[in-house]
Amino acid sequence: MCGIVAGIAQRNVVPILIEGLKRLEYRGYDSAGLAVVNQGEIFRKRELGKVKGLEALIASDPIAGNVGIAHTRWATHGKPSTQNAHPHVSKDKVAVVHNGIIENHDHLRTVLQQDGYVFTSETDTEVIVHKIAQELQSTDDLLAAVKSTIATLQGAYALGVVHADQPDVLIACRKGSPLVIGIGIGEYFIASDIAALLPVTQRFIFLEDGDMAELTINGASIQDEHGKRVVRPVIESQLKADSVDKGKYRHYMLKEIYEQAWAVSETLEGRFVNNKLQDTAFGHNAAEVFDQIKSVLILACGTSYHSGLVARYWLEKYARVPCSIEVASEFRYRNPVISPDTLVVTISQSGETADTLAALQEAKKLGVKHSLVICNVPESSLVRESDLVMMTRAGPEIGVASTKAFTTQLVALQMLLIAVGRRFELSREMEDNIVSELFGLPGNIEKVLKLDETIEVLSQRFADKHNALFLGRGTHYPIAMEGALKLKEISYIHAEAYPAGELKHGPLALIDAEMPVVTVAPNNNLLEKLKSNIQEVSARGGQLIVFMDEELAESSDENVQIIKMPSVANIISPIIYTIPLQLLSYHVAVLKGTDVDQPRNLAKSVTVE
Ligand code: AGP
Repeated sequence: MCGIVAGIAQRNVVPILIEGLKRLEYRGYDSAGLAVVNQGEIFRKRELGKVKGLEALIASDPIAGNVGIAHTRWATHGKPSTQNAHPHVSKDKVAVVHNGIIENHDHLRTVLQQDGYVFTSETDTEVIVHKIAQELQSTDDLLAAVKSTIATLQGAYALGVVHADQPDVLIACRKGSPLVIGIGIGEYFIASDIAALLPVTQRFIFLEDGDMAELTINGASIQDEHGKRVVRPVIESQLKADSVDKGKYRHYMLKEIYEQAWAVSETLEGRFVNNKLQDTAFGHNAAEVFDQIKSVLILACGTSYHSGLVARYWLEKYARVPCSIEVASEFRYRNPVISPDTLVVTISQSGETADTLAALQEAKKLGVKHSLVICNVPESSLVRESDLVMMTRAGPEIGVASTKAFTTQLVALQMLLIAVGRRFELSREMEDNIVSELFGLPGNIEKVLKLDETIEVLSQRFADKHNALFLGRGTHYPIAMEGALKLKEISYIHAEAYPAGELKHGPLALIDAEMPVVTVAPNNNLLEKLKSNIQEVSARGGQLIVFMDEELAESSDENVQIIKMPSVANIISPIIYTIPLQLLSYHVAVLKGTDVDQPRNLAKSVTVE
């Protein structure tokens, strides 16, 4: 949800900021802008659309400066337009980039307008820059002006602020939206995500909520929410600049689909001793926490919610661990009843999803004592706010459509099944079985990826379709949901998932030759039931595409196309059956010519409500 990058250096920061914006574009790509301070003036360029448009604009009419701020936008207040693009400027002197939402912007706008400030955009952000300008009437200290401004703001923000007359300082602050400081040699940067700064540094300070920082070429001075000077730890990132390159792949999404075997191995690495999962994989005090809990509550959004849905089946079926799950945006406002000995598990690729973070905070307010996050981004807000942490080590996921994060979340959730389940009714035999299947998983992923070409051909059947249904049962119903989400997200085909048993309660009315019905049919105890559901669709002229175990005798007919899948154990089949659905949505999107990695209206990291 908007990306910001800014820097102060002894060299021209414009190329660094442009490169940073490209690396942040997954956060929003409606418009982009950049402003630098040079010889007492602010020079600003803004362009509707993607960063490459801004880059071309600057190439045709260059600007340069040693201090600058830049932004790529995901519109919340005000349509995507050049006028609404950041940076916003007041009195030609102050410029601001903002990620987040200012909830009391209406009130602040009215007051500032009464004081003579003229607004040129529809954004909530513009109140911030005018307010800073107003505060500067009574002080020359930019930090102090920003400080008194943020005291008036309600909502979430990460800010970068520069002033035309103060070319030697860059101000940064955050509350509710992420912001890191990148430490170079005699130069300092800020960004919404370290990925933006990897070409210039691997050393980072993660600002905490409420922190403000004053950056000069000589250092970063940080104060906490109480105005107390603080020293935050410097973290060396292991990521390299090229970790976020597309490599030989046409899209990040395809690269990330193909990285799944590797990502799963990474997620398993070092968490077992003599094939026995260590409780410490979840944190040094995990054993103590797991010993106390009586149930599990999972909170997440989107794809992460789907992985939680699978985990609920696992925890209850194999270990009799009472488990409930809720979409985070509903949980946070529902005032639910929750017992203190529940383990609240949040699942999030980014660790910054505003609803999931708020749901965790709400659960704590309601008295929950123990929390665990399954997350892909170290130092993210959810990681910092949770007692226990299980990192998925999928590497940066850039494609807006989540793929490798999902499969590694499922792997992490299997480890949770073992760790919590062994304290309930998970048998030793089942535990050993899960471990052995997990170790074999990367090989099985490689096998299923070999279906890529078959699925590419299959994707042609969707090219002229406007709707699709996805069916599954048991642990594979959430996989059908994930398949439908992937398809709608990147190909813009309306897709819905149903537990196959629900068909005759309504959706069967939709079936005709124009409605592809994708069915996930592994060889498990529900297969015979599912076959009946397949017959119900076929008998009504529905066109089925069925992903089915290679050992089953069924073959394709006029209405039913069967794609044979490698035969795998039930416990890992949800992970395996996810992959062809990812490939299917990818190839359909490519055929339809959509922007696969940056689909319309979406952003990777949903840091606003
Ligand atoms: C998945 O393809 C989506 N882009 C989206 O549903 C995502 O999973 C959701 O926004 C949650 O994000 P998180 O995992 O970073 O919390």
